[in-house]
Amino acid sequence: MDDVDILELIKQTENPYCYYLYAAYLEGKMEHLHYGYFDLGNETLLQAQEKLTQLVKSQIPPTTRRILDSGCGVCRTMCDLTSSGYDVTGISPQHNVLQVARKTYPAIADKIVTARYQNFRSEKKFDLILFQESSQYINAFSIFRNAAKLLDAGGHILICDEVRYSSDVKLAFNSKDEMLFFAAMFGFGLLYNRDITEKVLPSRKILVSIFNNRRNEFKAQFAATRVDFEREFSQLAAGWESETEIFGKGLYGYEVFLFKKLDRKVRHGPVEFLKIFELYMRKIKRQIAG
Ligand SMILES: C[S@@+](CC[C@H](N)C(=O)[O-])C[C@H]1O[C@@H](n2cnc3c(N)ncnc32)[C@H](O)[C@@H]1O
Repeated sequence: MDDVDILELIKQTENPYCYYLYAAYLEGKMEHLHYGYFDLGNETLLQAQEKLTQLVKSQIPPTTRRILDSGCGVCRTMCDLTSSGYDVTGISPQHNVLQVARKTYPAIADKIVTARYQNFRSEKKFDLILFQESSQYINAFSIFRNAAKLLDAGGHILICDEVRYSSDVKLAFNSKDEMLFFAAMFGFGLLYNRDITEKVLPSRKILVSIFNNRRNEFKAQFAATRVDFEREFSQLAAGWESETEIFGKGLYGYEVFLFKKLDRKVRHGPVEFLKIFELYMRKIKRQIAG
């Protein structure tokens, strides 16, 4: 695909992915929709994103063959995993982003499915479900409940994402406590957990500076095609600035988790039901708070 085709495809993708893809395009290549891992400090965003993907890949247990990449983005990781010999199915609800992926990687196009994880059902079972920065769009309860059905015994969930350490319902992301609670409730044990917040935070700085310093280039690309570019883009840029402050206060972090489906039946008691009720009430409060 030449640059004109790529830009046309980017313009057709959903908000906010059109802006993320264009930011990645401006930085070199629109291959990843995730943070980068900066261990040297002088990497480009693209190099750091590749490092993060390799770090995630290094956590895949050796017994894994069938992978569900939930929230596969533009499918760069899915393509990489397929080339490494895994049987990978990718799902995501953003149809137009997936169209970019199908055009970019035609060899895996028939393994890419437009679906929300919460509603995804499959006869085929998986050995591992990967959430590379996509667990935050799905509540912790649904992540583990659905995984218990989709995974074979001994299967794994690999998550690499932003998490919340505060119980403030107005803040974003899944709370780490809730993730651990629902993991245990649905019979998953935590095999590996690493906080890599400090290593990924430079990505935020780069993205915020692209949004602030290259606004005119975004405007030139999107003002004619988005219904309300100014409002949409300003909200996105402001959202990234304010989230960065929340990271600075230690209320958000970025972690890698590997869970294993344990080989035992899980019994749910009153504590679990109370917790679900509490979460349900929080959801309602969040909706009321707008
Ligand atoms: C930040 S992007 C990450 C994409 C890709 N995993 C990567 O690392 O480049 C978030 C992805 O989650 C997907 N997503 C959002 N809601 C989802 C849901 N309910 N079920 C599955 N995927 C979802 C989006 O479509 C997008 O592909």
